[in-house]
Amino acid sequence: MDEKTIEGWLRDGFSAAFPENDFSHVRALPATDAKFGDFQCNDALAAAKTLRQPPRKIAEAVFAKLLDNRPPFVEKLELAGPGFLNMTVSTAWLASRLRDISESPNLDIPQVGAGKKVVIDYSSPNAAKQMHIGHIRSTVIGNAIDRIYRALGYDVIADNHLGDWGTQFGILIKGYRECLTQEERDNLTVANLEKCYVLSSSRAKADEAWKNACREELVRLQQGDAEDVALWKRFIEISIAEFDRMYAKLGVKFDTYRGESYYNPLMPGVVDRLKKAGLAEPSEGALIVRFDAEKLPVAIVQKSDGGFNYTTSDIACVESRVKDYAPERIIYVTDDRQQLHFRQFFIICEKLGYTTKLVHVPFGLMSYGGKAISTREGNLIKLDDLLAEAVRRALKIVQKRTTTVDTPNPAADQATPAQISLAEQIGFGAVKYADLSHDPATAIDFDWDKALALEGNSGPYLQYAYARVCSLMEKAAVLDGGDGHRASATLPGDAQPPTTGYQLSTPIEKQLALQLLQFGPTVLRAAENYKPSVLADYLFQTAQMYSSFYQRSPILKSEPEVREARLALCALFGKVLAKGLSLLGIETPARI
Ligand code: ARG
Repeated sequence: MDEKTIEGWLRDGFSAAFPENDFSHVRALPATDAKFGDFQCNDALAAAKTLRQPPRKIAEAVFAKLLDNRPPFVEKLELAGPGFLNMTVSTAWLASRLRDISESPNLDIPQVGAGKKVVIDYSSPNAAKQMHIGHIRSTVIGNAIDRIYRALGYDVIADNHLGDWGTQFGILIKGYRECLTQEERDNLTVANLEKCYVLSSSRAKADEAWKNACREELVRLQQGDAEDVALWKRFIEISIAEFDRMYAKLGVKFDTYRGESYYNPLMPGVVDRLKKAGLAEPSEGALIVRFDAEKLPVAIVQKSDGGFNYTTSDIACVESRVKDYAPERIIYVTDDRQQLHFRQFFIICEKLGYTTKLVHVPFGLMSYGGKAISTREGNLIKLDDLLAEAVRRALKIVQKRTTTVDTPNPAADQATPAQISLAEQIGFGAVKYADLSHDPATAIDFDWDKALALEGNSGPYLQYAYARVCSLMEKAAVLDGGDGHRASATLPGDAQPPTTGYQLSTPIEKQLALQLLQFGPTVLRAAENYKPSVLADYLFQTAQMYSSFYQRSPILKSEPEVREARLALCALFGKVLAKGLSLLGIETPARI
């Protein structure tokens, strides 16, 4: 048995009592109430069905085995209610676990992904359009999942599945030729592409000849006409450069940008295989897949004009990813209106024999000021503008906090580069956290005041909590006889376990220690559920717990040993908070 884990001991206990069954999933959860001890295990209740025994009886059998083999660090084991196992651990063990965490380079985040590959398909905007507020969720949620999986040791391939193919390119090429000035064509921007698309598509609606011309351009492009292909390539390059400008602000990086066009040549092969497998059948000139058993509507895999569509392209994409990367799973982050599409092509892939785990993480739509975001509402805020506004608002907070007598009311244009950089960290962090603190599945309404609040569940609140730990460390270093320069080296990032040990002399310290121990398991749970909000909730709760510890416990004025132990606990909290926020893509400035 691993000396250090309660779970190892629990699993051994279950296996000793019921040798036939697998108990690798048995868990020690943090107790819901301190009066039940520190940890509880509910697995006797969960096992009742498989073992066909009353849970209390199972728990009794396990309890006896556990008592026989109780490690010294478990001070108390109790059997309660219908079959709960409650445990209290020793302070010395807790202190040694904290030491393990502070000495571990990844803060003891379980490396469950070592040797495993996962593809994460996120952001994936459509080319030739500017990113707007509607794109923020896929980008921010996808990137947090990406960072969390990497932290667990997975080899992640972040793939931006750009919408870079389809009928819109016929309309665009025609619009480019006819609706833009020479100057606009020479200095082509995504904004201009968007403009010529709008002009060209509205002309196509009113004018049959124009519509046909767009279709002809599309056919020329599909047939590989050199001029049209060159234009299309230019549109894509300009789009990616513009997307990358947004990603740089958001700290988002992709490993590949394989858009829909990449899979285009593979589609006839997909249709062949679907036919051979007896999955596709003709219907009114098109080729469809039925989902009678699953009670889902049919999916068209080849249109009557011979063209393929989104389903076909996504099947080709799975085949290609499996061949190139052999991933253990593929995770897709898109809005929840695409749920049917994902269910359909997942089923098809399974029937084609693909065993890779396919996961769709659907998110609810974001509204703004209580209104749905749509072109029709005229509130389609560009992502660029949203981020600029976030910085502008954060700058006000920064300037207020750093205002001097000389410049009592500084204007935004008087901001120093350092203030702007700080405002970016706070503003972008606020926008991300406002999204990530919600379960992805829920629809959210974006609200500036809530996002930027320094109190309450917000990004700036957590960043501020981190900055306060840094300032505490600086004060401690100065009191120890250091100077300003030395103090800056004393960030929580360098948290060292105290030489005298984490003493955890008060209940609130013990509670905070138990909470810090949950960091690794929480990161794992966030990954398993594809919910960065699980980690955001944890960080907020931990910060609140830290704040009540900090208010109730004298630190700098305590006796040297207690002071050292408490400072180390503060530093470890700072380290956990910074790491947790970094997994959400949020930076942690040392000063605010
Ligand atoms: N481009 C699509 C959109 O804007 C999202 C693509 C998601 N990924 C995928 N493999 N289907 O909605």
